[in-house]
Amino acid sequence: MYNAKMEISKILAPLIPGLEPNQIYDMLEVPPNPEMGDLALPCFKLSRILRKSPVQIAEELAAGIPADENIDRIESVSGYLNFFLNQNHYIRQVLCHIMESGQAYGSSDIGKGKTIVIDYSYPNIAKPFHVGHLRSTSIGNSLYRLYKFSGYNCVGINHLGDWGTQFGKLITAYKHWGSKEAVQKNLIKELVSLYVKFHKEAEKDDSLNDEAREWFLRLEQGDEEALELWQWFKDISLEEYQQVYDLLDVSFDSYHGEAFYNDKMEPVIQKLKDKNLLKESEGAMIVDLSDEDMPPCLILKADGSTLYATRDIAAAIYRKKTYDFDKCIYVTGVSQNLHFKQWFKVIEKMGYEWHKDLYHVPFGTVSIGGERLATRTGNVVLLEDLLNKAIEKTLEIIDAKNPHLENKHEIAKQMGGGAVIFSDLFSNRIKDVSFSWDEILNFDGETGPYVQYTHARTCSLLKKAEESGVNAEELEFDSSLLNSKEEYQLVKSLAEFPEKVSQAVEELEPSIITRYLVNLAQAFNRFYHNHSILLEDKELKHARLTLVKAAKVTLYNGLRLIGLHAPERV
Ligand code: ARG
Repeated sequence: MYNAKMEISKILAPLIPGLEPNQIYDMLEVPPNPEMGDLALPCFKLSRILRKSPVQIAEELAAGIPADENIDRIESVSGYLNFFLNQNHYIRQVLCHIMESGQAYGSSDIGKGKTIVIDYSYPNIAKPFHVGHLRSTSIGNSLYRLYKFSGYNCVGINHLGDWGTQFGKLITAYKHWGSKEAVQKNLIKELVSLYVKFHKEAEKDDSLNDEAREWFLRLEQGDEEALELWQWFKDISLEEYQQVYDLLDVSFDSYHGEAFYNDKMEPVIQKLKDKNLLKESEGAMIVDLSDEDMPPCLILKADGSTLYATRDIAAAIYRKKTYDFDKCIYVTGVSQNLHFKQWFKVIEKMGYEWHKDLYHVPFGTVSIGGERLATRTGNVVLLEDLLNKAIEKTLEIIDAKNPHLENKHEIAKQMGGGAVIFSDLFSNRIKDVSFSWDEILNFDGETGPYVQYTHARTCSLLKKAEESGVNAEELEFDSSLLNSKEEYQLVKSLAEFPEKVSQAVEELEPSIITRYLVNLAQAFNRFYHNHSILLEDKELKHARLTLVKAAKVTLYNGLRLIGLHAPERV
């Protein structure tokens, strides 16, 4: 596709000694006001290199640029060099490219031959899938889709929290107060109340803690009864998580959780010893990181059991061996920053040069109406409940707006779930997120339903056109008819998509796509509200329908990249 920024950088490069096209590319800006052109070069950025005033530079460049069929005119205004593209040419090239590419519009093969491992979601077994895991799930899922769309081979891993002393507590609680029937009936909710009860009772009776330690030890040693209960808790939890994953349209290539590495830790510890990295400290074994200004990384507890970091080290080594990744990225809350920094350092000290390919992708906290979400107290918001509430509320809105909508339960699912994911992905991931029902479900706001609704609007226009005998797949169109401000702005917005995709991949930031989609939907709706589309005038109708089709393609591709469905009717 014609990339105006790139082409203009190439035209300018021979006129600016000492700068490469890519350096000029980075200097080009989109002026705040379209009357000032489509792209501008702020020449004060060149003053130092060229030893001239910005005004003089702009004047000289304007006079020196050879004629180009894609550029209508160039103006030098107060030290800015403003470029006005040939609209007709530009619109034609952008729309033809989108129509030809279809579902591949925005994709690339920059990742060809490279493998990315993404570690995300990872609910903790026997604990509810709470809203905090939603962020990891939606960010990880979107990154997975973005990488795939850019040609990478992706491996999505659900690093389940399926090991740890909490299982000793849970088994103890189950043995004292649990029943098979209650667990089978209430599933994770029952496991959580057993866990909560354990903590309450253990405050009064410390011997319960000893019992829990005992059970965990038995579990680690492969005791049959302990293992059987653990497996049962795990199966029950996974079954329940699956409902959430189905709702969110998320799947994984591997469910190897922490327990999977139980038998892979010996060689790691051996290697740490061989490299002289293990030190004893208060009975525990650690890797000293004081030379890095970090607290030590705990590898073995005094009783010989391994820790969270030990598992992560073993898992990274296993993943490198199994997938030979180019990058392995971990999507977790910002509170785990230090944990990742520490064990990435340990990997480096062990001599693995691929330590530089490990990336922690942190995100901020989630709250609902200002309340943070905790599990230990039992004050939890289950993701499933949250999603169901979103779906219920969406259904109410659909019933009010379009009560005869076919398949409305399915669509309410896609929009309700979408609303939650969208709001989760709207801000930069590092920011804290707070849900407010009115905000996330507003069909006119910066929301998932708004973008989905806009996409459905493009579909219904195309469907109506088709019913009147127009084949949207084979539209001949005269781009010179798309000469209004709104049409040009919409085309420019459409043309930004591929660059937004590569930016999102580079910055590991799905919010770039989420925000882009809102802008695109707004540009589409400005066009839609100011211009009739299904007109008598066949030529104009075809030109505008081409624009509608290109918007549909781009909205669809963008929604899929952030993990949302794009229903054709809402
Ligand atoms: N299960 C952990 C938690 O809920 C996060 C796991 C993240 N992945 C990893 N490889 N450490 O906090």
